[in-house]
Amino acid sequence: MTDASAIALAEGWRCGEAWRHPDVCDPLQRAWLRRLREAVDTGKRASFVARWGRQVGKSWAHIAFALCEMQRRPGVIIRYAALTGKSCLAIVKPTFEALSAGMPEEIRPTLSEQKGTITAPNGSVMVFAGTDAEQFDRLRGPRAHLIMLDESAFYAELERVEAALTPQLNTTHGLTLYFSSPPESPAHPFAKRDAAHQASGNWSKATVYDSPRYSTEDVEGIEAAEAQRLGMSRAELLASTYWEREYRANIVTEETRAALPAWTDEAHAALVGEWVRPAHFDAYVSLDPGKTGDPHATLFGFHDFARNAVVIEDELELRSATTHIGAWADIVKERESLLWGVNRWEGTLSGATHEHLKKHNLDEKFLRVHSEVAPRQPFLRVGDEDARVTVDMALQHGVAVLPSERHDKALWVDTVNQLIRERRLYIHKRCVRLLEQMRSTLWNRTRSQWERTDKDHGDLVDCLTYMCRNIQWHHDCRPPPPVDRGLAQAMAMTKGPGVDFGLLLGRRSR
Ligand SMILES: Nc1ncnc2c1ncn2[C@@H]1O[C@H](COP(=O)(O)OP(=O)(O)O)[C@@H](O)[C@H]1O
Ligand SMILES: [Mg+2]
Repeated sequence: MTDASAIALAEGWRCGEAWRHPDVCDPLQRAWLRRLREAVDTGKRASFVARWGRQVGKSWAHIAFALCEMQRRPGVIIRYAALTGKSCLAIVKPTFEALSAGMPEEIRPTLSEQKGTITAPNGSVMVFAGTDAEQFDRLRGPRAHLIMLDESAFYAELERVEAALTPQLNTTHGLTLYFSSPPESPAHPFAKRDAAHQASGNWSKATVYDSPRYSTEDVEGIEAAEAQRLGMSRAELLASTYWEREYRANIVTEETRAALPAWTDEAHAALVGEWVRPAHFDAYVSLDPGKTGDPHATLFGFHDFARNAVVIEDELELRSATTHIGAWADIVKERESLLWGVNRWEGTLSGATHEHLKKHNLDEKFLRVHSEVAPRQPFLRVGDEDARVTVDMALQHGVAVLPSERHDKALWVDTVNQLIRERRLYIHKRCVRLLEQMRSTLWNRTRSQWERTDKDHGDLVDCLTYMCRNIQWHHDCRPPPPVDRGLAQAMAMTKGPGVDFGLLLGRRSR
């Protein structure tokens, strides 16, 4: 840096305009910060989303902006959140140190790791903390002029963070800034904020390829380093959802955590449509009772023996907090009668066998379930094994539900993936919530359960798994083909020992 440039930079920091200096921010960063600054200058409350890929310089640019506002507006209060306390310090400390090196001594703020603050001599302060429970309380307070949500696409509870922080802007008319690479699932509330801001215009997307600080060779260097770190070839890396998301800043479900990675755009195109039922089918219903506030979820589908496929034809999602079991049963009945003309619910199921009863130890309670006089449809209803509700459904409301085992969840979810890959699982296009969850449901870090988002908990994917694991694939519901009586008689006359007449007459196993 020349002397003149250093003087200009020092002056820039004094008046809080240093972000405009080319040694502080690159052109892409400056263009964005200019927009933020214009919004501050209007004095109106506003929010912005920067969906930028990794390494583009989100944290750097926004922290530079914050440090400038601290100089420009004595007494300003800024709250900066990052995912965890650790990641927060790891971002803020080196960035602050690098930026403040260019500041004149007398205005340079001090950083306290203990308090999580950067305090300027003029009384301005930036409070920084993780959104994890340990530190989050630091960010509370009566007011703030700028709320910065770094890595916000990864917060476990973005909406709770917003609810706690954004009221602090009520009197100051400040800005809320979301900046992050995209979430691992489109179900994360960040994706909603992103879409809303894209529509309103307070939005920007930038990839590592857009950053003026990187040459082609630099980006190749980043690619090589990431490929090595992840144990992938460069081609594998560039084809991965990780690269697509983190560096190209596109919102795609992270394949390594997706519940149904087989559910690609191609699968969707092949398997979603206005499917109609064949003349002969076995209807199935699967139910997942909502616990702790999750919805009661239900899927309606059928096994099409001729096509060796399952078709999901309808879905239901009811708020468990306000829907009594009896009401749920009534709505299920209504839907079954609408779909399949069912008109009797007597706690019976035409597809329930003695094996089912034995397996589930149901002889006492569910003896009525298996009955020769059961309505033809649905062939089976299956539901969550632990839930008392499914028992009540049967005993009190006549809607018999066989408990579906839940162990080996991952294994059975893989079966669903396999059905998708083999193009044997069709979804009617009216099942919009199921389709949304098929795309967005993620495993948690330990792959034991679905990752919870505030919108979804994969309940319909659970229903889908229950249904798929209970389909009786060998059950052919089609009537036997017409028998050639003449041939049968001729065969009967010449019958030797061991000829199975049932087979000849087209008898089908039940
Ligand atoms: N304008 C800049 N000048 C110099 N270094 C920068 C600039 N912007 C970002 N950096 C550096 O580039 C790297 C990536 O920036 P960072 O803000 O951490 O990116 P992101 O938050 O988008 O992942 C960091 O090492 C940061 O210090
Ligand atoms: Mg960052």
